[in-house]
Amino acid sequence: MSGAITAEITLAIDLADLPVGEMIAREAGGRAVLVCHTREGVFAVDDLCSHAEAHLCEGRLRGIRVTCPLHGAAFDVRSGAVLKGPARQPIRSYAVRSDRARAWVTVPADAHDADASSADPL
Ligand code: FES
Repeated sequence: MSGAITAEITLAIDLADLPVGEMIAREAGGRAVLVCHTREGVFAVDDLCSHAEAHLCEGRLRGIRVTCPLHGAAFDVRSGAVLKGPARQPIRSYAVRSDRARAWVTVPADAHDADASSADPL
């Protein structure tokens, strides 16, 4: 597939641009990654909902819970776990390192291929 990630990518996020309680979508090798700054830390998950692939960045972040703008599914941004349907499949989460000023999100080379069949059947 074109745009597939062939090597690990690290996204650098300046936390001055991402206050606590905010989230931002970034692209990594053709993959949409959602970076969330919570009181518990910085976390990163797929930006696409596993239900019908709406962009979660257009939804709402409350604590560690991101809610999909389309049908209201909710995910835990720490793990990608489903907190509320209609989504049944978790979304992928990514390793994040951070200090007081920056966060670094690691998107592994296999991330793109693993997403190909992750959306729930409707
Ligand atoms: S697309 Fe997210 S809940 Fe349906």
